[in-house]
Amino acid sequence: MSAATQATAVVGWRAFAVARDRAIRGLRGRVLEIGAGDGANFGQLSAGVAWVGLEPSLQRRTALGENARRHGHEAAPIAAPAESIPLPDASMDSVLATTVMCSVDDQAQVLAEVARVLVPGGRLVLAEHVAAAPGTAIRTLQRLARPWTRLLDHGCDPVRDTESAVRDSALRMDASRRFLIPVLGRVQVPFVVIEATKQAGGGTSASAQEA
Ligand SMILES: C[S@@+](CC[C@H](N)C(=O)[O-])C[C@H]1O[C@@H](n2cnc3c(N)ncnc32)[C@H](O)[C@@H]1O
Repeated sequence: MSAATQATAVVGWRAFAVARDRAIRGLRGRVLEIGAGDGANFGQLSAGVAWVGLEPSLQRRTALGENARRHGHEAAPIAAPAESIPLPDASMDSVLATTVMCSVDDQAQVLAEVARVLVPGGRLVLAEHVAAAPGTAIRTLQRLARPWTRLLDHGCDPVRDTESAVRDSALRMDASRRFLIPVLGRVQVPFVVIEATKQAGGGTSASAQEA
């Protein structure tokens, strides 16, 4: 376990929400929010950030655009999946994703795109539910629920190891905090709040390296 990962999970939705919202408030500059849904995070963004939303679902994007304008963000949300972000290399200071990495088709490709669009030193904040440890009852429940969540909840896959995906990416993991959130009686689902940084030279596209 790296020093960036806490030893014991904190139990409770509130502790998770506090850590998530604190990380979001720390984002600065041009903030790209991928899979922004209908804009649940607007209330947490610091004043002065230049927000850019990306949301592939037409229905959610329409609500997102209206909500964004109400919060003073005029740019129309981008219609694209996060596997293929139509923005130039090194054009964003921060990227935000909350409960999105469970739904994307290809986590490695999304993280490569995040690294590409971030400036060196730019920051990623992820807040996600993740797979429970192999062999646990909750892991079995997650596996059984997967066909239904894939179908009914934005393609959500509850059995994903998003921390490992970030460690395997071009980004540097700065912190990963774990939480256990009770969902059904004694069933506790693990969540993470991850902060990562693009290091100089990390995740730049081939064309930018040649330039
Ligand atoms: C559970 S919702 C979370 C929405 C919002 N981030 C929030 O925290 O309320 C997941 C969102 O991810 C979006 N999504 C699914 N696949 C995606 C992809 N490949 N790239 C970007 N967003 C995606 C869905 O359309 C949906 O809006």
